[in-house]
This record gives sequence, structure tokens and C-alpha cells, in this order.
Amino acid sequence: MTAKHEVSVLFVCLGNICRSPLGEGVLAHLLEEEDLSDRVRVDSAGTGAWHQGEPADPRSADVADRHGISLRGRARRVRAEDFHEFDYIFAMDRSNLRDLRHLEREAGGGASLTLFRDFDPDADGDADVPDPYYGGVDGFDLMFEMIDRTCAAFVEHLHAELSS
Ligand code: 4NP
Repeated sequence: MTAKHEVSVLFVCLGNICRSPLGEGVLAHLLEEEDLSDRVRVDSAGTGAWHQGEPADPRSADVADRHGISLRGRARRVRAEDFHEFDYIFAMDRSNLRDLRHLEREAGGGASLTLFRDFDPDADGDADVPDPYYGGVDGFDLMFEMIDRTCAAFVEHLHAELSS
């Protein structure tokens, strides 16, 4: 993290090619609109290593593109050090959260680890961003809506944090 960033956020899913790159891209886009890009660092990673080095899944890239957002990152695996480099680590579903709890123990604490949709005002007890990998294109549109409104709510939270 460069010194100028005051807050850092890491999105984590299973493969780091569908959900977490979209979280990273949407949040970065909203931060840019709010003139907060210089103050908040955003990244993403996966609990699995199968897709390491690959760009985002074309279906995620396409839904992002349709909303004026480009996904530029390459997949990487989350590591214990991330718990000391990031302030927030967001698990996209409860299975990711369980895997990350193990890594958190290995790291000896650090980042605030939560489910991303803890910030979703419409979550209504439904905590996961469902894995869209084996589903159809509809799943990617639904995922976008879920991620977009949750990121917007998180940006409100960040505004409060950065002004306090
Ligand atoms: P993601 O989706 O966790 O949202 O990136 C997946 C991508 C790849 C696989 C599973 C989920 N996979 O089994 O390869």
C-alpha cells in the first residue's frame, strides 16, 4: 500500500475471476466518482489458485463493461500477509468466509474480516453473493445489482470513517 492511502479494501471469492474482480471494479469506480480514489486502495483475490494470473471471466468483464467499468486485474491467491496489509477483507460468501477464518488465525489477526453483504441494505438475512460461475448470464446481471448497491452502501460508510 502506498502511504497516501488511508483505507484499504480486499474482496475475496473462490476463483478471483467472477465476483471479487467485479467488487473491486465497482468499488473503484464509485470511489473515483466520489473523488476518493487517492484515499482508498482496492484489490481482490481468491481462496483458490486455479485461475492465478488470469484476467476476469469474460461474463464479469462484460457486465462491468456495460456499466462503463473495466476490470483490469489478474487473479491471485489470498495470503496471510493480506491480513496485515488491508483494513477490510470482504468474503463474498460464507464458504469464502470459513476459508478466510483459517487464514486469519494463521496471520494472527489484522484486517476486519466480514461478509461483504453485511453492508447490503437489502440483504434480508441472505448473506451470500452466489457463485455465478456455472450459471447463466442472468446470474451475472443479478450479481452486478447486488454488488453495486452493497458497494454504494459501503462508500457511505467510508465517507463517515474518513471524515471522523
Ligand atoms: P468466483 O467464481 O469465485 O466468483 O471467481 C468461480 C470461478 C471459478 C471457479 C469457481 C468459482 N472454479 O471452480 O474454477
